[in-house]
Amino acid sequence: MTCREDDIFLCAFPRSGTHWTWEIINMLTTGKLEYLSQPKESAMMEFHYPEEFDNIPSRRILNTHLPVRLLPTDVKEKNLKVILVQRNPKDVLVSAFHFLQKAKLMPFEGTFDEFFKMFMKGGLRQSWFDYTLESEKAVNEKELDMHVINYEELKKNTVPTIKRLSEFLGTNCDDEYITKVAEMCSFQGMKKANDEVKDIDKFTFEKDLMKSHYRKGEIGDWKNMMTVAQSKQFDELFAEKMKDSSFKFDFTK
Ligand code: A3P
Repeated sequence: MTCREDDIFLCAFPRSGTHWTWEIINMLTTGKLEYLSQPKESAMMEFHYPEEFDNIPSRRILNTHLPVRLLPTDVKEKNLKVILVQRNPKDVLVSAFHFLQKAKLMPFEGTFDEFFKMFMKGGLRQSWFDYTLESEKAVNEKELDMHVINYEELKKNTVPTIKRLSEFLGTNCDDEYITKVAEMCSFQGMKKANDEVKDIDKFTFEKDLMKSHYRKGEIGDWKNMMTVAQSKQFDELFAEKMKDSSFKFDFTK
């Protein structure tokens, strides 16, 4: 894929806050306090051929759940900006469970315990652990121009986190503008925009599913789903798999 000099690539494991970050980045780059009518899926790399992105005006915010190694070679060659969104994996797991129960094309019809076991084994087409460790390696190797955002940091310290993102992208929006972006992209703001502004009919994706992206938007919802035993089992696997990782995850409100 031939990329433009100012393309931005947004990478995240599914359910990590991709929609949220995509909308924020659009407001930063366009300089307009408006929700885009097109949904994030319109710029999702695994859903389209490259030429389908030709009509998107610059700067394009292309997004993907694919591993970082599958980004176009231009990303490295043209030193394009890459943003990686991270979220604590217990909340990712719970969010994915709820989401996939509603998906018609790729439904998960089992129990939460069955889903939990599948996630732990690296299901969901790719393992959260593999995805995250590979992404961390890419960050550490510094071969790509990458900026990492944590869902929890964005939730708890929204304005400073968006400000750092703006500096990384060179959009240098002022504090007043960033505060308004934070307000517009609050969970409630985006949920409402998804119902009222997004032109979902233009796209061939499952409409019900497109409506179910905005569920709770909280940190620590895993506590409502996981048993003490599951949580312990998760912690043990996490400690083993992430022993060499310096990525930090925040599991509590
Ligand atoms: P929950 O299911 O825990 O509510 P993605 O966009 O990567 O698929 O991630 C979806 C998750 O991000 C969902 O989590 C969704 O509710 C949450 N989310 C979406 N917009 C958000 C916002 N503005 N603030 C906080 N969380 C948001």
